Amino acid sequence: MWAFFERLLDTSSLSPHGICLLWEPELIWLHAVSDAVIAASYFSIAIALSIFASKRRDVDFGWVFWAFALFMTACGFTHLFSIMTLWVPIYGIEGLIKAMTALISIITALMLWPLLPRVLALPSLSQLRATELALAQEGMQRREAEDMLRHAQKMDAIGQLTGGVAHDFNNLLTIISGNLEIADRSLRSWGDGTRERLARAIANAASGAQRAAMLTQRLLAFARRQALDPRITNVSQLTGGMADFFKRTLGENIELEISGGASQWPVEVDPSQMEAAILNLVINAKDAMAGKGKLTIEIGNAFLDESYSQQNPDVPVGEYLKIEISDTGCGMSREVQERAFDPFFTTKEPGQGTGLGLSQVYGFVKQSGGHIRIHSKVGEGTGVNIYLPRARAAAAPAVEEAEGAPVVGSLGRESILVVEDEADVRSYLVETLRDLNYRVHEAADGAAALKLYDSDPFRVDLLLTDIVMPGMNGRQLAREMQSRVSKLKVLFITGYSGDAVVHQGRLDPGVSLLQKPLTQTLLAAKIRDLLDRH
Ligand SMILES: Nc1ncnc2c1ncn2[C@@H]1O[C@H](COP(=O)(O)OP(=O)(O)OP(=O)(O)O)[C@@H](O)[C@H]1O
Ligand SMILES: [Mg+2]
Repeated sequence: MWAFFERLLDTSSLSPHGICLLWEPELIWLHAVSDAVIAASYFSIAIALSIFASKRRDVDFGWVFWAFALFMTACGFTHLFSIMTLWVPIYGIEGLIKAMTALISIITALMLWPLLPRVLALPSLSQLRATELALAQEGMQRREAEDMLRHAQKMDAIGQLTGGVAHDFNNLLTIISGNLEIADRSLRSWGDGTRERLARAIANAASGAQRAAMLTQRLLAFARRQALDPRITNVSQLTGGMADFFKRTLGENIELEISGGASQWPVEVDPSQMEAAILNLVINAKDAMAGKGKLTIEIGNAFLDESYSQQNPDVPVGEYLKIEISDTGCGMSREVQERAFDPFFTTKEPGQGTGLGLSQVYGFVKQSGGHIRIHSKVGEGTGVNIYLPRARAAAAPAVEEAEGAPVVGSLGRESILVVEDEADVRSYLVETLRDLNYRVHEAADGAAALKLYDSDPFRVDLLLTDIVMPGMNGRQLAREMQSRVSKLKVLFITGYSGDAVVHQGRLDPGVSLLQKPLTQTLLAAKIRDLLDRH
């Protein structure tokens, strides 16, 4: 082995390459300069590749660049030795350098082939740009969705506040309207002189109280805390039934078009609240058109898909009934659109609008599991789209409710236990029930009621109790009393239907509920209905 290398490195019997070229200067320098230029280029490429590979360590397959740099360096050296052998016959060393270059070239070439499929699979610049664009769009959609979620949370907070206001307000209204009723009844047994004046005053006060009651009803609708009476409803029929009324309301110069086929899906909503919502929107449209224009009510089936649901995170994918009410009125600016659903937001003159119309519509739609959207352009008009989830049963024919039924009190010696923490409301209830011939026991809260009963048990046919009370709530009291008195009927009264008996505005089975403010007629009818039930 050593002898082999000795022979390779022995130059004594060899002559330089220049002799083969007969020392012709042109030939010598042509070879020397060309080899020098090639060697310099190889070294320069090798340096560039090494700088790239060392600076961009994140690049996949970085080792390929190092392998190429080494290969280029080896090639550079072979050309340097070609220059040297023109004058010095070191062919052995030149051969060894070539052999090393051959080895590096084989390794690099062999390693490159398995890499080829992976390199081909690398995304091109245009593909990367498309991905970047898609990512940017997705980010924008996410931001929009977050904005909408924040808005929905804000609306929830306002809803809670209005729910609380309505609770207290309803107590006050019960006192006002209840005492007016008592005064009215007392009047009947009094002289004629003062009768007319007092009767008018009472009628005015009663209508004021009624208007205030409507206000709390709208507040509760927005708070999504009203006790709804959802029924399977055909909205087209319901709207059709209101068409004549709309025409009268809109006047001659506003054209009304109601469209919708017969194959529409039914929805499960409270029909009277649905009517109120449509009426609110129609009146808004009328006001926006200033007496002239076109109002279109379009009802149809709609499918809200995945992409719609992504843009509106509170809307599940599915089948909906779409009710679109559009006008050719003044339209809304962006600022007005953003605030339109806020309770008490109005752009109308004082006394012209309370700003509760759209908030009633919003609350009702949300409580019914639906979705609402406004699209509007200033000067062109407004469209309000309501989406209500499809109900899986057919609509039942509407039942006319009997009005003006006579007030019926106790049929025997029936006894009622009244529990209410608000003293004035309690005294109204007690007096009204006594007027109706019931035997009445009263207590200010749950604990007092149980104590009263336990100290000397008496006959109780019905428990009439407020729901929201300090200490024990109405529902807990009902449970306690029902364990003492078998078949005890329970009637809850409330100014605000919280979670105690109501879930999403629907009553628990077996529970009867009356919303404040109360009237003697309502109270008498509900009690009779309960007591006569078996
Ligand atoms: N169809 C519409 N075209 C243009 N603006 C509208 C339309 N509907 C509502 N708005 C704007 O939204 C505001 C709020 O409407 P909303 O129904 O809640 O209250 P209101 O109509 O002002 O009062 P209320 O309904 O209590 O009498 C309106 O004051 C009006 O500026
Ligand atoms: Mg309105």
